[in-house]
Amino acid sequence: MRIDILTILPQLLSGPFSDSILQRAQNKGLVEIHLHDIREYSRDKHHKVDDYAFGGGAGMVMQIDPIYRCVEVLKSEREYDEVIYMTPDGHRLDQKECNELSLKKNLMILAGHYKGVDERVRELLITREISIGDYVLSGGELAGAVLSDAVIRLIPGVLNDETSALSDSFQDNLLSPPVYTRPANYKGHKVPEILTSGNTRAIEEWRHEKSLERTKARRPDLLED
Ligand code: ADE
Repeated sequence: MRIDILTILPQLLSGPFSDSILQRAQNKGLVEIHLHDIREYSRDKHHKVDDYAFGGGAGMVMQIDPIYRCVEVLKSEREYDEVIYMTPDGHRLDQKECNELSLKKNLMILAGHYKGVDERVRELLITREISIGDYVLSGGELAGAVLSDAVIRLIPGVLNDETSALSDSFQDNLLSPPVYTRPANYKGHKVPEILTSGNTRAIEEWRHEKSLERTKARRPDLLED
């Protein structure tokens, strides 16, 4: 998979992709991440990429031209499955959408700023709009990093134990059961006996029961789907 991220703050994104699982995925050649500085596509001598909103009002709007030019260059080099705009008014990201996107080959992600992008960017260039939750971040970069992380870890070979992504919370609309590790007794707080019983089947049943219990208590909406 290849992910191209368009941003005015590439330095904000270099961190999340240069550590741990995301770095390993790139080293293994399973994913390529390319950051593009939208300012480099500005024709303004000060590399300006925003301007006042027509009609007035507070806040600057990201201009179409630098974004259009950047997208055009990338599209001339390869086909993109999706051009995604990170925005709080997009579709709220869930595991189903991550699974779907993990099967794609080339993704472009646009991180917005200020009051957002000129509406014509959305009309002409964007194929999908995604929000990572009902709150507003100061820019789309961190949201783009969250989306990328959630998608990349699903690519076969990225996680050492492939089954571990399948048993994540949400994969079957259930939250994960509690997990424990050594010591079996910490200051009198003991691990549930069944987990040390060696009875694999009983353990599986216990885990499923706990998943259900937790989902009913914390996210009953998941069970309604
Ligand atoms: N940009 C600002 N807030 C955002 C959010 N919640 N999701 C996606 N992009 C955003």
